[in-house]
Formats: sequence, C-alpha cells, structure tokens
Amino acid sequence: MSHPPSQPRTPVFAANWKMSHGPTETGAFVERFTARHSRRSDATVVIFPPAISLAAFAAAASDRPDLEFGVQDVHTELEGAHTSGISAAMVPATGATWALAGHSERRREFGDTDADVGRKLVRILEAGLRPVLCVGETLEERESGRLAAVLETQIREAIRPLDRESRAGLVYAYEPVWAIGTGRTASPADAAEAHAIVREQLARAEGCDAERTAILYGGSVKPANIEALLSGPGVDGVLVGGASLDPDSWAAICAAGG
Ligand code: 13P
Repeated sequence: MSHPPSQPRTPVFAANWKMSHGPTETGAFVERFTARHSRRSDATVVIFPPAISLAAFAAAASDRPDLEFGVQDVHTELEGAHTSGISAAMVPATGATWALAGHSERRREFGDTDADVGRKLVRILEAGLRPVLCVGETLEERESGRLAAVLETQIREAIRPLDRESRAGLVYAYEPVWAIGTGRTASPADAAEAHAIVREQLARAEGCDAERTAILYGGSVKPANIEALLSGPGVDGVLVGGASLDPDSWAAICAAGG
C-alpha cells in the first residue's frame, strides 16, 4: 500500500458531478469555468466528473494542471468479471488523482457497506490516489441523537483495513444525508459540531493525524452560503453537487475564502 504524505489543511473545493455532464457538456464546462477561474496557490480545486467524461475532462483541462480531478467510486476488486466496475488500478492512466469512497448515494442506491468502503479505500490508496471518505447521518439518525455514533462507526469500520501509515492520507467529507440535494444546508454550527466529532474520532484512531486532516462539508453548498460555511471552525473545504454543475456558480464557490 502506498503512503501518501500527510497534507496540511489546504482548503479543498471539490465538485461531485454525480451522473451529470457527459463528455460534450464536460468540454463546454471546462472552457467556461477556466475563463472565470484563475489558479489559486492557496487552495485545491478538484472535480469528480462521471467516469465516462474523464477523458473529455483531461483533454479540455490539459493546459490547467491546477485543476485536479478524480473518480466518484471504485470497485472493491482490481479486475475481472465485474460488469461496469471501475478498477482503481486503471484510474491513474486517465490522469485522475483522487477518488471518492462511501458517498451516501452509493450506500443507499448500491448498498455499499462500511466494510465495502474500507476495501475501496485500500484499492484507492494502493493505486496512489487521494481518497475522500464520505460520511454522514440521515435525518432519522440525527433526530434520534445518534449523530456521533453514526459518524464514529462509519469512520472506524472504513479505516479498519488500512495500515496505520496510510490512514493519515485520507481527506474526509461530512455530508449530512438530509442536506444533500434538498436545499436544506446544515447551519455553520451544525457543520462545526459534526466536524469536531470527526476530528475527535481521528484523534482517537491509531495512525490518523487529526490536526492535519482536511474535513470538507457537503450538502446544498452554493455561492450564497459558502463563506459562512467555510468560516466555521474545522471546516477545511466543501464537496459540492448541484451548484458545481454550472461553471459560473462553481467559479463563485471556488473564489471563496480567498
Ligand atoms: P448537493 O450539493 O447537490 O446537495 O450534493 C452534495 C453532495 O452529495 C456532494 O457529494
């Protein structure tokens, strides 16, 4: 397993396009976005297009190495009879350097368990990619007082198969399920509370580097709320769905906190 160095908490602006923007729209997006967004030396911008658009993204952004990109998921296996699967080992050849794991839509629609997420993290790290481990509670879990227990279990089980040295290479995304695509954003105080729970869990887990690990917030982030969210204690960046699909809105988000 490779051991990515522990990174300082440089702000990360991450766009998860989910199943939007095919190759044609991807090229058009990059053209418009790059006209509006100048390279930032004080932040990382990373886009997760659908896998079918990775080549189009790499081609369109070939003169913008500051724009990093990644895959939204990988398979737990490296090769073989797994129709539609994406092997982590095949990702680096596309130019992508990041991978999401454990997004709540993968958990809900495809039944990804915490153990699956852990196996995917192993594959992602073996391939030398930078993983973003997504965690978050449902409304029912929050309202029944299980926020901390849910986050702790998701993290503990997902990092269980990782060797100690690899654990410090993870980026985390706290995405409350009730805030995803609903227009209902966690308040800065809610986000700060959850991020503190994640960081406390990292401080207890062997190998994790709580103080140097970036924890992103995701869930109905938009230009109107980005500054307030980013100003919350322990919020090191954002993972944005809907508002990242429009190049103007994504450029406005990526200009925040500068
Ligand atoms: P929205 O920004 O559309 O709520 O999606 C958040 C998300 O799921 C990012 O991974």
